[in-house]
Amino acid sequence: MDYNSNVRPNSMQRITTIELANEFIDAQVKAVREQVGDKGVLLALSGGVDSSVVAALLIKAIGKQLVCVHVNHGLMRKGESEQVVEIFRNQLDANLVYIDATDRFLDKLVDVSDPETKRKIIGGEFVRVFEEEALKLKGEVSFLAQGTIYPDIIESDGVKAHHNVGGLPEDMQFIGLVEPVKLLYKDEVRVVGKALGLPYEMVERQPFPGPGLGVRCTGAITRDRLEALRESDAILREEFDKAGLTEKVWQFFTVVPDFRSTGVRNGKRVFDWPVIIRAVNTVDAMSATVPEIDWAVLKKITDRILAEVKGVCRVLYDLSPKAPATIEWE
Ligand code: XMP
Repeated sequence: MDYNSNVRPNSMQRITTIELANEFIDAQVKAVREQVGDKGVLLALSGGVDSSVVAALLIKAIGKQLVCVHVNHGLMRKGESEQVVEIFRNQLDANLVYIDATDRFLDKLVDVSDPETKRKIIGGEFVRVFEEEALKLKGEVSFLAQGTIYPDIIESDGVKAHHNVGGLPEDMQFIGLVEPVKLLYKDEVRVVGKALGLPYEMVERQPFPGPGLGVRCTGAITRDRLEALRESDAILREEFDKAGLTEKVWQFFTVVPDFRSTGVRNGKRVFDWPVIIRAVNTVDAMSATVPEIDWAVLKKITDRILAEVKGVCRVLYDLSPKAPATIEWE
């Protein structure tokens, strides 16, 4: 099977079982070793499904010849960057460069309230941080690995998709690209990830926008609201998990808007933030419906958020389907 072509052969079997995934992994391990020889390979490891599976596959193939760079833009969900470090550096013994760029991103975003401008700043800064790290590795890495998957190739009309890395320093020349899952569909990437031993939360991770929590902390991002967002999101995930909803609901998260409302705490008036719970079911994210969540579950989440999250006095459940509402708030 020629896994290096950009066209998926009709004869290529759908990878639905661990057995088939293992066959694919063995073939790719061999192909990657042949492709890169003893040279170094650079990978931007976001913690998303695709880049995580590519990292695990390349670690198996070439071990420390792979250099993973994980940039924490400060807009990750609670525990996510820590999980990347724990799994890849501590468990898989990867060569991992971890950059905590939180202050850099949040400083750039002060007073920026327009959603598109926020997205552009986050995306642009991400490229700059990655570029800086890549330049430090000049001479050590000759190939660039990417978590391109088959829908990326189809969507870009057979032209190689470079969506995972927005740009690279001009004087940084790579011999070639390593894209070991580029002929796979998302569900197949997940099976390969499972076969490689990646944990369930990483392999079955929900879609998470590149700008991360930045588009769920609406308007100009502030550290207090970002903290409320991260904590409330963690509570929501925990309670959905306990209620067996993680596998039943396609995507769920919280949003903290940039307006306050009046509340009462310890007999005193407060003027605090609301937290909005968003949960949707969809097939392709083009349209979405809102699931009927058990009242007791919503109440438990509300009680916990009000008791545990600082600066929040109100919790709401967003009942709006897509369309007209989008899944994300920004
Ligand atoms: P909307 O809000 O447009 O979202 O209904 C549809 C799906 O896309 C996800 N989303 C993104 N994913 N980068 C991504 O990789 C992004 O910038 C981005 N924005 C939205 C969203 O979470 C939902 O699943």
